[in-house]
Amino acid sequence: MITTRLDLARIRAARSDIDPIFLNTPLYQCDALGRELGCTVSIKLETANPVRSFKARGTELVANLLAGQGRTAAVCASAGNLGQALGWSGRRRGLDVTVVASRAAPAVKLDRIRALGAELELVDGDFEAARERAADISLQRGIRLVQDSLDIETCEGAATIGLELADAGSSFDTVLIALGGGAIATGVGYALKTLSPDVEVICVQPLGAPAMTHSWRRRRVVTTDSTDTIADGVAGRFPIPEVLDDLLAVADDAVLVQESSIVAGLRLLLEQAGLVVEPSAALGVAAVLEDRDRFAGRHVATIICGSNVDLDAYHRWIRT
Ligand SMILES: Cc1ncc(COP(=O)(O)O)c(C=O)c1O
Repeated sequence: MITTRLDLARIRAARSDIDPIFLNTPLYQCDALGRELGCTVSIKLETANPVRSFKARGTELVANLLAGQGRTAAVCASAGNLGQALGWSGRRRGLDVTVVASRAAPAVKLDRIRALGAELELVDGDFEAARERAADISLQRGIRLVQDSLDIETCEGAATIGLELADAGSSFDTVLIALGGGAIATGVGYALKTLSPDVEVICVQPLGAPAMTHSWRRRRVVTTDSTDTIADGVAGRFPIPEVLDDLLAVADDAVLVQESSIVAGLRLLLEQAGLVVEPSAALGVAAVLEDRDRFAGRHVATIICGSNVDLDAYHRWIRT
């Protein structure tokens, strides 16, 4: 039996607290992509919703909880997608949402956070600087700090993707999951390892942002001084110990991919699947590209986890 902070009954119950527009996302076999990659590829499409990423599955639970406690405000740090999701979920429940993000985050993510009605504060530095500032704001204003991957609701929300994969009854050999703070990998991994234990769970990070992967490999928290990747959604430096423990219990492997493979993945998803996605969503395809033999002939599911991408940058990457 798999033991983590998550619980299957809570994950199942969570589905009724999440707006249905974020649930039961398309899951389909993409033969054109599979032909290019030399394996059977199924896509779990988490981008066709109002915030264009999976993150609202978790923020729906967080916002419900806070509204139920009578709270009126919350603050979070965000690389860009959590902030949009909390903005969306919070507004519907009368919560004032403040998001702290790096000034260097993609402009499109920052614009959409504002458009969703959240107050946005920008910091110099990276996502970890935003985390520090969000914690300060929480203390100063006495409002709840929402911490992605640490707050169990963010993991439980993401875990509902795992329920849907397990319920699909397809015979996946492997599920490839982008790894950032770990909410999606620990959530989906827990659901799969509990319901479909034979499915291999592989987490994928960029070589330029490897902290959680190094931590998983060494079974202790390993931090890095900087990150250097176009996959801005997964570029953290300080893994959270509780999340690492959960990841150790559910992941079969954690792999690192090069930037050139992420770009090749973006291009393949556009050309073979007609999908414009952000770099973090191409990590799974990048992992197959870097190790074709490992996946040859297997049935691989990859979660297309976000599509908030600056179009100028996207065109530059695709053209090179
Ligand atoms: C598009 C996208 N993919 C993957 C991740 C990584 O998710 P997690 O932090 O749950 O590991 C994020 C995080 O925000 C994201 O926005």
